[in-house]
Amino acid sequence: MSRKTSADTDSPNQPSLEEQVETLKRRLAEAQKFTALGELMSSTTHEFNNVLTSVINYAQMGLRHQDEATRNRCFDKILAAGQRAAKITTGVLGLAKNRSDRREPTDLTPLVKDAIMLLEREMQKYRVELDVQLDDVPPALAIGNQIQQVLLNLLINARQAMPKGGRLVVRLSHDAAEGVVSLMVRDSGTGIPADQLPKIFDPFFSTKSGPDESGKGGTGLGLATCRDIIEAHEGKIRVQSTVGVGTAFTIRLPAVNPIVPQAVIKPAASVTSSAATR
Ligand SMILES: Nc1ncnc2c1ncn2[C@@H]1O[C@H](COP(=O)(O)OP(=O)(O)O)[C@@H](O)[C@H]1O
Ligand SMILES: [Mg+2]
Repeated sequence: MSRKTSADTDSPNQPSLEEQVETLKRRLAEAQKFTALGELMSSTTHEFNNVLTSVINYAQMGLRHQDEATRNRCFDKILAAGQRAAKITTGVLGLAKNRSDRREPTDLTPLVKDAIMLLEREMQKYRVELDVQLDDVPPALAIGNQIQQVLLNLLINARQAMPKGGRLVVRLSHDAAEGVVSLMVRDSGTGIPADQLPKIFDPFFSTKSGPDESGKGGTGLGLATCRDIIEAHEGKIRVQSTVGVGTAFTIRLPAVNPIVPQAVIKPAASVTSSAATR
């Protein structure tokens, strides 16, 4: 390939191959975020419809019944529905905004709660029992909406692995000795066969025939993006899976120790996608 300019490939102005790969990875993660948002559309729109039905029904009931007690009860219901709608929009907007690419001390607790809130009705619909365990954790060094993107991908995969329902455990905890905040998503789904386990983080690896009836999954980009994001966070993502029993994904991120200044936090670690299948 010839170039019109005199710049050769060693020119300091030309991005190196590594830099170009990094840029593409960042763009892919950004694009996958909109896929994740798009995937949430049908769930959140459905949820909005439920909220509106509540508002309309209780408004009609309040108009029909003149007594104060019934009217107060209707206003309470309408208020609760409105607040729920506001939480849903805030959750979705939170994912869409904040395009910062700087990691900063981030409290993961509200972020986990938001992701759960966006998907809890869907979990109910698929008879997935939710067990959310949120320990007291220090902030993690993270880009909040990227971690939320990772979590949504893991939660959606987990739900899709349990077509007949099951149990989903989400656990946020702190490993003080390692200086790590960890987030685990464990399902009681199909599990991943040993021969597939090394491939699941590859871009475009998917065992799904396409998006499911709620428009989710099938691109094979979810876990690849999760891995890229966690790698850029100098964290780790691991999977353990047993066919017929279930799968657990754990992400580990550097905790921000209030005593140690941030500059001292060492760049370290890469991604491990270890497998314990039996
Ligand atoms: N929790 C899980 N349980 C079982 N299999 C999973 C789970 N998460 C991911 N997988 C497997 O990894 C593959 C890749 O996942 P992902 O990158 O999110 O792509 P997609 O969901 O679009 O197929 C899935 O197709 C599935 O085979
Ligand atoms: Mg997926």
